[in-house]
Amino acid sequence: MNILLIGFMGSGKSTLGQRLAKRMSYSFLDLDAEIEKSKQKSVGQIFSDDGEAYFRLLEKDWLMKFDQDNCVISLGGGTPCQEGNLELIQKIGKSVYLHLPVEMLAHRIQNAKTIRPLIEPFRDDPEGLTSFIAELLEKRQPFYEQATLTIDAKDMNPEKIDELISALSAADQ
Ligand code: S3P
Repeated sequence: MNILLIGFMGSGKSTLGQRLAKRMSYSFLDLDAEIEKSKQKSVGQIFSDDGEAYFRLLEKDWLMKFDQDNCVISLGGGTPCQEGNLELIQKIGKSVYLHLPVEMLAHRIQNAKTIRPLIEPFRDDPEGLTSFIAELLEKRQPFYEQATLTIDAKDMNPEKIDELISALSAADQ
């Protein structure tokens, strides 16, 4: 079984992904990192040199070529929302939507060190950032909600991770 983590920027996909993979003795893959490795460029550089549409093609291409098993994969916040990607995700494995409220996403994104091209325009505009997140999340939510499982991604302690593993095993029967 593969497990794909989906959700908005700042929802904790990479952190949970690494912990889940360790707990299950699965490999951990982060789609942004995979793309950066293959292109030898940061996501920020790809957006500025080649444009967002090209980045979206790279995401789709990676999903189409994926052929491994027993992996936990952290996807980018926009990955499930591009045409045809949800179908590819569903073919690869079980998906989990990490749900968090807008205010918490805004707080986490503001304090993150990661450079996220979509967020850069709001670097000094916390109110603008919150409205941007609320609007984009509303558009993305219908995609995210098609995940196999939705979890409340606040405080993912070991007990909640064990519950998630049980729910994933049940969904795999
Ligand atoms: C994006 C999310 C980012 C990265 C890119 C675009 C998005 O990944 O793929 O900056 O469209 O939400 P994270 O969700 O891991 O930050």
